[in-house]
Amino acid sequence: MRRGSLSFLDVERPRIVMFCGKGGVGKTTTASATALHFSERGLKALLLSTDPTPSLSDILELDVRGEITPVKGVEGLEAVELDYDVVVEMWKERFGWEVYEVVSSFLPVDEEIIDYVANAPGIDQEFALSYIYDLYRGSKYDVIVWDTAPAGGTLSLIKLQDKFYRHLGEASKLYLRVRTALEILTRGRAKRDPLSIIEEWRRLAEDVLSMLKDRKTTAILVTIPESLGVSQTKRVVDELKGYGLRPSAVILNYIVDEKASQSSEFYRKRREMQMEYVREMERLYEGSMEIVTLPLLPFEVKGLEALEEVSSLLFTSSSGES
Ligand SMILES: Nc1ncnc2c1ncn2[C@@H]1O[C@H](COP(=O)(O)OP(=O)(O)O)[C@@H](O)[C@H]1O
Ligand SMILES: [Mg+2]
Repeated sequence: MRRGSLSFLDVERPRIVMFCGKGGVGKTTTASATALHFSERGLKALLLSTDPTPSLSDILELDVRGEITPVKGVEGLEAVELDYDVVVEMWKERFGWEVYEVVSSFLPVDEEIIDYVANAPGIDQEFALSYIYDLYRGSKYDVIVWDTAPAGGTLSLIKLQDKFYRHLGEASKLYLRVRTALEILTRGRAKRDPLSIIEEWRRLAEDVLSMLKDRKTTAILVTIPESLGVSQTKRVVDELKGYGLRPSAVILNYIVDEKASQSSEFYRKRREMQMEYVREMERLYEGSMEIVTLPLLPFEVKGLEALEEVSSLLFTSSSGES
């Protein structure tokens, strides 16, 4: 039986590839290997990680924290890891003053409000989306490979973005209704019309959503061939589809390969268990998503050489597995 590979991405030429999955499943590893693959095919690729458990710099053996950095030795590949603190600072710089302008137009607050809002849960991932949107609009990269926060994080964010968009219409109406009263209270204070700021936010939220729903945006789920992995994947796939996103492949990681399974009873049993879930995934998503298996490797995936190996395993379909 032929097992799937990620080679279909070469044909579909996505502009954004999101890697989703819970921690420890190999999300950052497979995202890195995918970005490497794209750059080797001549595309300008950006590998971006907003996984709050940072590991990209470790995997690349290169400090890419906080700043887009060219990956030495790989033409056309740049990488950046945005950890929480960095993102909150960037958020403050980009949106902080606007938040102050809007809130201070109807509440007696001082600038501390910026720090207060900056520490709201989810703000880091929300900023990540607008950061990616800016890069996506620019023409510097052919493809952005995005190592997202573990499943829940990104999804709740999309939900938030969606709600934000729908409810802002209401907020602006409310604002219009109390506008005259506000103008009397705040005469001369606001530098910009808060309503136009709100309108900009609304447009940004709408643009970010359409970027995620674009045909050229795809999501790859990374998981383990176990009961828990299968049920989580089902849930995330349904949720992504519910938001109009396109999950196109599932990577089942840490599979004991055929040869290793012959070496001991322990590995034989383990592989038998895993293959049951691989087949279940294949039955479930036949014709709608590619199911790609990645073997448990005997070495640590660290450095370009190791990533190269993962990349060739992901992008070449294997035969004889069953
Ligand atoms: N197929 C594999 N075989 C062996 N080790 C792997 C494999 N995939 C990932 N790893 C290792 O597992 C650990 C977790 O991988 P990582 O990509 O950081 O996971 P995540 O981003 O999902 O938390 C890393 O040490 C990585 O080298
Ligand atoms: Mg990770």
